[in-house]
Amino acid sequence: MHKPSADPAAPELFTWEFAANPYPAYGWLREHAPVHRATLPSGVEAWLVTRHADARQVLADARLSKNPGNHSAQAHRTGRVGIPGERSADLMTHLLNIDPPDHTRLRRLVSKAFTPRRVALFEPRVRELTDRLIEGFAERGEADLIHEFAFPLPIYAICDLLGVPAEDQDDFRDWAGMMLRHETPGQGKGPRGVGRAVKRIRTYLAELIHRKRADLGDDLISDLIRASDHGEHLTENEAAAMAFILLFAGFETTVNLIGNGLYALLTHPGQRALLQGSLERGETGLLATAVEELLRYDGPVELATWRFATSPITLGGQLIEVGDPVLVVLAAADRDPSRFERPDELDLARRDNPHLGFGLGIHYCIGAPLARLEAQYALAALLRRLPDLSLAADRRICAGAAA
Ligand code: HEM
Repeated sequence: MHKPSADPAAPELFTWEFAANPYPAYGWLREHAPVHRATLPSGVEAWLVTRHADARQVLADARLSKNPGNHSAQAHRTGRVGIPGERSADLMTHLLNIDPPDHTRLRRLVSKAFTPRRVALFEPRVRELTDRLIEGFAERGEADLIHEFAFPLPIYAICDLLGVPAEDQDDFRDWAGMMLRHETPGQGKGPRGVGRAVKRIRTYLAELIHRKRADLGDDLISDLIRASDHGEHLTENEAAAMAFILLFAGFETTVNLIGNGLYALLTHPGQRALLQGSLERGETGLLATAVEELLRYDGPVELATWRFATSPITLGGQLIEVGDPVLVVLAAADRDPSRFERPDELDLARRDNPHLGFGLGIHYCIGAPLARLEAQYALAALLRRLPDLSLAADRRICAGAAA
């Protein structure tokens, strides 16, 4: 197992204990080795950046490319993979793997389709979905909230928004499950499950885009096609890759925001009571700051996606060479005591909260308004409808499972 430095006080990274609660180890790195070269479990070496100020700099630095083609040859030579997109699948040429000017063109196109207005119009649908899912288990007394609530809500929501017909949405639910659990029903775990899921999704999306082209509707994929027909260029493959990243960037993240968020509330009874009280009084102000605080305190994206140096960069006293991969540890940056007061405390009313849970710069999360909407409705509806909600599983099991 990798030791972050020769320092005997250095914690071990990537163990089960680390996965269950990485914050103490990240705290150590932030203080003693803020830009630290680590060997990941996949064997790939990367710089981990843990301070808030450094994280901001990296996320906004144009010298760091998102294109995996800029990774130094080392990982390829050793045959080690682990960087999504390296396998050059056509669905992987999406926003998170490209740089300007292609990124600028595609981002402009999707921004025209993914407007705040479209998200606002979607509110009643999120409310309806949330209520329907809660009805499914409210009377039962016990439920697996990830499986029955946090998992289906975002997948149905994003399918609706994109214009995936209702009769096909359960297929997406299955494919998404295969990708998340890395397994194929009946065939156990393994990368083959992911490969199969990606293949089916690719075929499905190509057909869907083809059908939409012939019969445009009031949905995001149709808007993308319209936008590309009005002068902007979007190839069939780019359209499929865009639909793919919208479906999957917004899926696991939202599942985890609802899951981690609810877990944090249930294990902080004082904070939960404050939120529950404010909801009972019909106030929404605390709900909004609460979701931001849950994104900061135990956000769904522990590490930002890969970046690769295209020129030498000195950061935190370390020289990052051309081709070196860099990972911003959002979870560490968002608990940096030099930026946040009492960073390890959950404070739902926190006002000064410049968390990096949705990233920063040109790759800032395009789905942030939708994620906020879903998380706010989901948490509020659960607390209102099930005011006595509590954890059924042992607290330690939950922490392990969350990891
Ligand atoms: C709680 C939920 C979510 C969280 C925490 C989250 C977080 C993030 C983060 C940290 C990034 C930047 C990654 C980087 O720079 O390395 C990002 C980018 C992105 N997110 Fe989200 N996201 C969430 C939900 C969504 C949703 C619902 C969608 C779409 C429906 C979405 C679509 C995207 C896309 C397309 C990008 C890439 C943007 C670009 O490269 O220009 N995300 N997200």
